Amino acid sequence: MEVKGNQGGKKSGDKKTRDKKSRRKEIKGKQGVMKHGFIGFGNLAKAIFNGLRNEKDMAFACFDRFKKEEDIQKEGINSYDNIEDLVLFADTIWLTVKPQDLPDVLLDLKEFSLEGKAIISPVAGKSIAYIEQFLGDKPLIVRIMPNLAMAYRASVTAFHSNSPENEQSAEIYSILGKLGKVISIKENEFDLFTSIFGSGPAFILSVIEAFKNKLQEFNLTKQVEDELLLELIKGTTLYFMHNREDHTIEDLVKNITSKGGTTRAGLDYFHAHEIGKQLEGVIEAARVRSKSLEDI
Ligand SMILES: NC(=O)c1ccc[n+]([C@@H]2O[C@H](COP(=O)([O-])OP(=O)(O)OC[C@H]3O[C@@H](n4cnc5c(N)ncnc54)[C@H](OP(=O)(O)O)[C@@H]3O)[C@@H](O)[C@H]2O)c1
Repeated sequence: MEVKGNQGGKKSGDKKTRDKKSRRKEIKGKQGVMKHGFIGFGNLAKAIFNGLRNEKDMAFACFDRFKKEEDIQKEGINSYDNIEDLVLFADTIWLTVKPQDLPDVLLDLKEFSLEGKAIISPVAGKSIAYIEQFLGDKPLIVRIMPNLAMAYRASVTAFHSNSPENEQSAEIYSILGKLGKVISIKENEFDLFTSIFGSGPAFILSVIEAFKNKLQEFNLTKQVEDELLLELIKGTTLYFMHNREDHTIEDLVKNITSKGGTTRAGLDYFHAHEIGKQLEGVIEAARVRSKSLEDI
């Protein structure tokens, strides 16, 4: 076992000279600290780590199959060079791999004792029942659907647990609450939730990109373009936030629209080309894809 990085577990000596028990003791480390282990350290795991890294009483480590040690070290997290040591370290195991990689990870995980550990899966399209086929129904399994804004503690995250009465389950719910808004939903609602809130940032950014393309006619620097766009988004968010209790979105749009004016002309184009419907189509395509991921 080799520990990489600068946080949490300690360095061990020659693996062959140690038995499992002493390695277990060495890796377990401090009591009273929640130990998060990421299997796969890509975009989402980094976002979760960055959102939580300043929390007291938490330690973090990861195992990623091909990432270079120095690349992981730059992120400021420990890494192990095998999954077994990560499992020994962690009491909360995050399955942060792509759906197609999940079966291999679960086949590996089923070889280890998961007693007292919680498994958290953000993997799109993969149900708790699917994970239980590999790990059984004893471990606490929490399925979530977050987005990358976890890094800024501003995700919208869906939550579903296979043992809602378990204390650890409530603890995980409250940790997710530190990373933005969290909501408990039924499992059969995950595909729609994924398409709106998991993929949502990419869809909203793609709409913003269309504004940015038009903005280029001004010949501004990229930095000024971005600042102006960010202020537009901030102003729109504030306008929505301050008025949403007393007005519908339709009312808020009407307030900006005068008869025969520029906004009216743009909205006429929006409706004539059914752009709202087209955007719903974007969300629906993502939902269909999420559903199909069950089978890969
Ligand atoms: N990104 C998002 O915004 C987002 C939002 C909600 C949910 N999710 C879900 O989160 C999961 C991770 O997404 P991501 O965007 O973070 O993916 P990602 O950036 O591709 O990260 C996954 C990482 O896991 C590694 N990996 C794959 N198989 C492994 C294995 N057997 N053992 C150890 N490491 C392994 C990958 O290595 P290789 O590069 O070598 O394959 C990669 O570094 C997905 O299931 C996705 O559905 C993502």
